[in-house]
Amino acid sequence: MTTLSQRDILGIADLSATELKDVLELAVHLKNGRQSPVSQKVLGLLFYKASTRTRVSFSVAMYQLGGQVIDLNPSVTQVGRGEPIADTARVLDRYLDILAVRTYKQEDLETFANYAEIPIINALTDLEHPCQTLADLLTIQENFNTLSGITVTYLGDGNNVAHSLILGGALMGMKVHIATPDNYQPNSQIVEKAKELAVDGFEVMITNDPIKAAKDSQVLYTDVWTSMGQEDLAASRIPLFEPYQVNETLLNYADKEAIVLHCLPAHRGEEITDSVIEGKHSRVWEQAENRMHAQKALIVSLLEVNS
Ligand code: CP
Ligand code: NVA
Repeated sequence: MTTLSQRDILGIADLSATELKDVLELAVHLKNGRQSPVSQKVLGLLFYKASTRTRVSFSVAMYQLGGQVIDLNPSVTQVGRGEPIADTARVLDRYLDILAVRTYKQEDLETFANYAEIPIINALTDLEHPCQTLADLLTIQENFNTLSGITVTYLGDGNNVAHSLILGGALMGMKVHIATPDNYQPNSQIVEKAKELAVDGFEVMITNDPIKAAKDSQVLYTDVWTSMGQEDLAASRIPLFEPYQVNETLLNYADKEAIVLHCLPAHRGEEITDSVIEGKHSRVWEQAENRMHAQKALIVSLLEVNS
């Protein structure tokens, strides 16, 4: 098994293609009941933004592995009162074995990583959501028995979820289509990075045409049009984003066996219709469950637990 030797996972591309495959393989084994205990290890969760899935899936994963979790909610710790990240990181490093941080700026996450020796996991920043991508890839692999060559189309805002999906798709040799309104495309540096580290088979299409993007895709994926921290812009975005809604009409352009993913939470009637998220193509609940299996594999790999 690959051990990630106390690595920081600040973005999905902190894993090589081989390491990513190994984490997914371990996730499958853990999902099927393999035991890989991390007893007496402690995971800290330091979340500056709301979370249901990430918080609970990390907590249950650690509990099932035999470890412990400490919730370091900023409202009840000194970080909420302005203690510098560099100081917080050096202190937490001396108590915890691993720390997952959900925050705004990628640079703040990097500061945690620079000042703490323990593995730091990106539990979502404005730039990336690598833990989500692990679960997305696991879900796609479960449905198609492969990742290489699969076309995944992401529609909506070129955000953190889109960025990690592009990079993960590049590492797995997938065809990644991104359809966004003009001015909401993914970060061009992320797209360039994806091209640099891509394995054979990777293709990326960035377009403002949702139908062209969705055509013959095996996976349609969407996320909220307004991410956490951007709420003041929500109303103005709706008319711009409406053509990118994942609905029955768009689904008709995709492969007839296509699956529909959403990282959740969803806004029914905005980025996805109720009938599609509740329909037979939807795999969103399996995808949410897979957060736990994928993160368990990540924790085990980072803590160098012999499985
Ligand atoms: N998908 C996801 O990260 O969900 P939460 O914000 O609930 O953690
Ligand atoms: N893009 C969303 C994902 C939430 C899980 C956000 O950052 O709010």
